[in-house]
Amino acid sequence: MPEGSALIPLIGLGTLQLRGRVCVDTVEQALRLGYRHIDTAEGYENERDVGEGLRASGVQREDIFVTTKISPSHFAPRELERAAKDSLMRLRLSQIDLLLLHWPNPQVPLSETLEALCGVKRAGLTRHIGVSNFEVTDIDEAVRHASEPLVCNQIEMNSFVDRPKLTAACRAHHMAVVAYCPIARGEANNDALLKRIGHAYGKSGAQVSLRWLVQQGISVIPCTSRIERLSENYSIFDFELSEAEMSEISSIARRRSRLATVMSPMRAFALKTLPAPATSVLRIGYRMLRRVMGGTAR
Ligand SMILES: NC(=O)c1ccc[n+]([C@@H]2O[C@H](COP(=O)([O-])OP(=O)(O)OC[C@H]3O[C@@H](n4cnc5c(N)ncnc54)[C@H](OP(=O)(O)O)[C@@H]3O)[C@@H](O)[C@H]2O)c1
Repeated sequence: MPEGSALIPLIGLGTLQLRGRVCVDTVEQALRLGYRHIDTAEGYENERDVGEGLRASGVQREDIFVTTKISPSHFAPRELERAAKDSLMRLRLSQIDLLLLHWPNPQVPLSETLEALCGVKRAGLTRHIGVSNFEVTDIDEAVRHASEPLVCNQIEMNSFVDRPKLTAACRAHHMAVVAYCPIARGEANNDALLKRIGHAYGKSGAQVSLRWLVQQGISVIPCTSRIERLSENYSIFDFELSEAEMSEISSIARRRSRLATVMSPMRAFALKTLPAPATSVLRIGYRMLRRVMGGTAR
């Protein structure tokens, strides 16, 4: 493992759609089942629930890898430090394992954001730092400005969305790739090819999609609110896809546009062109839209 790299568990629990009691119980059950990575974000408004689930599980803190993310609206240096402290307070932890910049924010110079992020790491608020939704050019720029190792890029990847150039760029910079939406919000389960391949192993389409990722060394963080699906999504280490099956899935993996990034061009344009009060109003509207859509936007 290169210097500065993080040991990120291959499977984790995503929590984007989880709130309140369901979130607490799901995190608790996931940890009891063996999950050791929990992914949250200040933007998910569930860090308190995630923290409660961690404690309820009884699993030792040092055995759990907790990722959270700073919202782009908090990328100005002072706000970033404040946001990291607020996340720790809501999670009721003394240290985060991995703190990510959630999305690029062209309104704040990346050099300043990176300096603040590295400072937060040096101050001991997080063990590791990284980014999310960064494209190849963003990564190159981020690495140039970072005085601490960036250990990860969390991006959308699943059996319908492959990102070979981006994953190669991450690897070139010794950054782990963590795949979000790894079962395409459940759609992997209905795909004819994945179902056919899974049938031979007694596995579902969702499990095949997850396996296709972990077999490439990519960590996955599927989200579910159903306890029975926690075990299903975790049971992907007792079979191996053949080279032919891996290639067959890869060959169909570019046929769909990304799910979570539908809003990103609009978001980037608004952040770049509008004054801060207008982007705040948009942010509130976006949150309301997310609630109406049942959490499908990130
Ligand atoms: N960095 C970012 O910008 C970003 C963006 C999006 C997501 N994320 C992170 O990545 C995590 C995962 O992504 P995601 O939640 O968007 O998508 P996902 O994990 O691909 O899909 C979650 C959806 O699939 C369903 N599901 C779960 N297991 C299933 C199974 N075995 N069979 C059929 N359906 C199943 C769930 O419904 P039920 O609850 O009914 O099981 C849920 O609606 C998020 O929770 C979040 O932590 C990060």
